Amino acid sequence: MIVHSNHHSLHQALTAHRKDNLLVGFIPTMGHLHAGHIALVRHAQRSDTVRVVSIFVNPLQFGQNEDYARYPRTIETDCALLTQEGVEHLYAPSTNDLYPNIHHHTRINIPHIGAILCGRSRPNHFVGVATIIVKLLNIVRPETVFLGKKDYQQFILITQLVIDLCMDVKVVGVETVRESDGLALSSRNAYLSPSARRIAPVIYRTLVDTQKQLKAGERNFTLLCAQGTKQLQNADMTVDYYEIRNTNDLSEANSQSTEVIILVAVVLAQTRLIDNMIYRLT
Ligand code: PAF
Repeated sequence: MIVHSNHHSLHQALTAHRKDNLLVGFIPTMGHLHAGHIALVRHAQRSDTVRVVSIFVNPLQFGQNEDYARYPRTIETDCALLTQEGVEHLYAPSTNDLYPNIHHHTRINIPHIGAILCGRSRPNHFVGVATIIVKLLNIVRPETVFLGKKDYQQFILITQLVIDLCMDVKVVGVETVRESDGLALSSRNAYLSPSARRIAPVIYRTLVDTQKQLKAGERNFTLLCAQGTKQLQNADMTVDYYEIRNTNDLSEANSQSTEVIILVAVVLAQTRLIDNMIYRLT
């Protein structure tokens, strides 16, 4: 695996691959890689494709009181994992390579998706995500970009920005990978103390319970969300939101909805965790 610390070197390497008619599959990450990331890497594997993984903890998508400084950075073990997977290129830039002047540069905003759900309590988060993704896509110019569906709002936001900005890239969402007790894999799980870790699977169990009620024919979404919220609160979680929305654009679910997603964000012992579950109504 070739490790690039600046975008010029990556650009050069990819230009050479393109001359050999190879396609580029891109997996953007913030590192501290786990089985969820490896699922993306494996999804991207094809004989006609070189895979590029990026590792960059993007300061722009963290709020002032959030965990940018303590976000886990494990570049050596990440490199070992990616090498094992046969990844051809790792782009691990410095902040300066991507933001030579972090205070004066273009921002990308997708207000109708960026302001709801996680965007309500993390007001600039999705501007940060959208901005870095446009920069990374412009550098890598992949045919396909692979994203985890655990961050479903991010997946929809990026799908939308690619359409809105006429970018010629296919966005592929990959299913969430879970621990055996249902907890969705996330780099932030590393923050959980043993006791918080024991409680955390309640998130998954709550989603499953709501899904069961949808399967049984319950269509009072307000009631279902209130019940889900209560269940999480009973497990000592602070609920940021528990909502049922349409999968295609995250608009609010109603009686016309055909496929919905139950989305949740909680804070458990100071750690913010998100998860979701999709259900087809018809
Ligand atoms: O999901 C992530 O790890 C990040 O939000 C992403 C997509 C790499 C942008 O920084």
